[in-house]
Amino acid sequence: MNTLEYIEKHKDRFLEELFDLLSQPSISANPKYKNSVFKTAEMVIDSLNKIGIENTKLYETPGYPIAYGEKIIDPNLPTILIYGHYDVQPPDPLNLWLSDPFKPEIRDGKIYARGACDDKGQFFMHVKAAEIMIATNNLPCNIKFMIEGEEEVGSENLEEFVKKNKELLSADIILISDTGIIANDTPSITTGLRGLSYVEVELTGPNRDLHSGLYGGAVANPINILCSMIASLHNKNKEITIPGFYNDVEVISKEERDIMSKAPFSIDQYKTELDIDDVYGEDNYSTMERNSIRPTLDVNGIWGGYIEEGAKTVIASKAYAKISMRLVPNQKSNKITQLFENHFKSIAPKGVKVKVTPHHGGEAYVSPTNEKGYIAASKAMEESFGKKPIPVRSGGSIPIVALFEKELGLKSILMGFGLDSDAIHSPNEHYGLFNFFKGIETIPLFFKYFSK
Ligand code: BES
Ligand code: MN
Ligand code: MN
Repeated sequence: MNTLEYIEKHKDRFLEELFDLLSQPSISANPKYKNSVFKTAEMVIDSLNKIGIENTKLYETPGYPIAYGEKIIDPNLPTILIYGHYDVQPPDPLNLWLSDPFKPEIRDGKIYARGACDDKGQFFMHVKAAEIMIATNNLPCNIKFMIEGEEEVGSENLEEFVKKNKELLSADIILISDTGIIANDTPSITTGLRGLSYVEVELTGPNRDLHSGLYGGAVANPINILCSMIASLHNKNKEITIPGFYNDVEVISKEERDIMSKAPFSIDQYKTELDIDDVYGEDNYSTMERNSIRPTLDVNGIWGGYIEEGAKTVIASKAYAKISMRLVPNQKSNKITQLFENHFKSIAPKGVKVKVTPHHGGEAYVSPTNEKGYIAASKAMEESFGKKPIPVRSGGSIPIVALFEKELGLKSILMGFGLDSDAIHSPNEHYGLFNFFKGIETIPLFFKYFSK
């Protein structure tokens, strides 16, 4: 039986199994869901046991466990290490979902659920592809699985695990489906990810909330100040004003930019999809460049003061914001965080105190297109889609990928099958049935070409 015949025969069961995984609210960010995250880890192990993966084990960490398993058919053959994550983002705001985020349902040829695309639906394609290769006696090389439960919160414990288990994780390449393609009729392979530096800032003005009439105009209002400080982080060309921020940014040649600009992209469709009248961003760069090869600074949340019903006349004592900076190759996350902190403190007026708390970070990643792994992925997709995939750099981050390279000396092939419109991290996340099954069809081809 070939892959397509096997998929056809078992597709309903594949979906049922995926739906079981999707029914678990494995939200790593919220301790309330702890039991569910642990339960999901066990379900991942069960799914590996069931298809004949060996030495399966849940590796405990101070946080959530890492599901590991392998099938070594011959130590002399290459080994492909599959990475993915079974944790998901919180589903909020719940009222915008058309169906329960943890009661998966199919509408319009798409699976709707939190994690449908990011990343349960995608890592599960690898489990099913492995099932097919094993069941049909077509596994051409060794395979290892490492599926973690803390990707959405920074993969801190995976970092330790990787450093301590280099032998266990020895492989020739890492294969990951946690990214996307341009469109279902335009396959692409992600050749870059941005790094991340994430900070929380707290501004303190007076020692207590004050009457905004009695004190207004005479003391620094931390919310007013925070807004103007944040506004000053970009200049009129929409460049970031933190001194030294761009110092290490990789310079991309005209030739490379020309090649990148050939990837299909419709600015009108982009605007229509987002319901915006115009795009916005750094001068002298295209939209595609702004969201992939250029670093950014964005406020992710801002709060303080009175936000309940009605009007309260008050000057708050404190104001807060969460700020992320997406980084590009050569920028170092720790260094950028430090530059931010120094600058942010330096621009604050004397009337407020500033506290900067760094959150998780990570480095950018680029993968070459002329190496064995990329070539195998390209051939596999060309065969399954009937079209040669285009290399594209993504604006998203998977910080652990750069760490894999540093600690294990391994490149990662980012062969994801999602679409930008799948609404990952947003209400109504979904994953196309086409994409799920196309992934299952393509993965064995990667194995075939990589092992040749
Ligand atoms: N799978 C995404 C990253 C992604 C999605 C990259 C689509 C490229 C295309 C991943 O789960 C994610 O959400 N990463 C976070 C970073 C993490 C440290 C929370 C991100 O990019 O915000
Ligand atoms: Mn993901
Ligand atoms: Mn994610």
